[in-house]
Amino acid sequence: MPINRNFQQLSENYFFSAINRRASQFAEAHPDQRLIRLSIGDVTQPLCPCVVAALEKAAQEMGKVDTFRGYGPEQGYPFLREAIAGYYKKWNISLETEEIFISDGAKSDLGNILDLFSEGTSVLIPDPVYPVYVDASIMGGKKILFLDASEENSFLPLPPAFHADVIFLCSPNNPTGAVYSKDGLQAWVDYALAEKAVLLFDGAYEAFITDPSLPHSIFEVDGAKKCAIEFCSFSKKAGFTGTRCGYTVIPKELEIDGLSLNHLWLRRQTTKFNGVPYIVQRGAEAVFTPQGEQETTKAIAYYQENARIIRQGLDQLSISYTGGENAPYIWMRCPGRMDSEQYFKFLLEHCTVVGSPGIGFGKNGKYFFRLTAFGDREDVKEAIKRIINCMSL
Ligand code: MLT
Repeated sequence: MPINRNFQQLSENYFFSAINRRASQFAEAHPDQRLIRLSIGDVTQPLCPCVVAALEKAAQEMGKVDTFRGYGPEQGYPFLREAIAGYYKKWNISLETEEIFISDGAKSDLGNILDLFSEGTSVLIPDPVYPVYVDASIMGGKKILFLDASEENSFLPLPPAFHADVIFLCSPNNPTGAVYSKDGLQAWVDYALAEKAVLLFDGAYEAFITDPSLPHSIFEVDGAKKCAIEFCSFSKKAGFTGTRCGYTVIPKELEIDGLSLNHLWLRRQTTKFNGVPYIVQRGAEAVFTPQGEQETTKAIAYYQENARIIRQGLDQLSISYTGGENAPYIWMRCPGRMDSEQYFKFLLEHCTVVGSPGIGFGKNGKYFFRLTAFGDREDVKEAIKRIINCMSL
């Protein structure tokens, strides 16, 4: 049977599923202890009121014969693509609506985009990294090249001296929370143009940038439209982890060997994807209204305050970390020479707190640990209190 043998190279379980399973097993064995989960970056604040109102209105429309909708355009409804193009204007980026593809979240497109590249394509992936890039590359039989991200380069590696066909970049970064400057991104764009490579830029966390000098989009950089694809999501920006909506931008200028990647992706999506529900797209559209902007900014501020509380706790313990200022993740060095697996066990067993061991994001994460700021405020405070108490014993 010609099964895709690449799957045999994957670890047994997806990283976050494995963590959840371990946490649940612990919770079952210790029903008297309250587990606090600061591992997977799942939001805890509800959808904002104007999104809920838009979802309700759209649901009503679907119940009336005059306003009912069947299949929608695979690429997304024009009203949402226009709203997204409007959003990019605040960074002086001009997009045509045909360059925007609505998806059910960045994760699907980040994996599926590899359909555009043949087996054996070299894919450059920073380490540590969001595990989806690695697993999807393995499934697709790509040749993976790793690039070290470490304290030495502030977890923001610059282009290597060798060639790669495709490069995954994530800024603000998951898991390290580090953010590229415009100069840093320019170096990557220059590399991609010189190497005729394609940058796959994951901007899922752009809404967490507070420093006005930092770029939110790869298209703020000169030349990027000729070499980059950008992936974004409403998950973290507007609490859509359970509602599911994202978007991918593929500029028309992006051509490889005379082939338009925008056209290839449209061909792929019209064949394999039937679009995001109308109701959900109406909810996403509301995020870009003035009221939506105001309400989502409030929810993001809540998570930013959580991040501040976590950072303050780590400062108190003199533990070094990156992130948490322009990103919702805090990437800390494991204390007491523990490696990340040992620290995972320590936190679980002594503090009943679950985080993400850095090794799950790559070999360079071996002595690091990721905490998310997406938790409930009281949980975050309690988790930090427990960690401080445990570490001070
Ligand atoms: C994470 O925890 O890294 C993210 O929540 C995963 C995701 O967005 O798929």
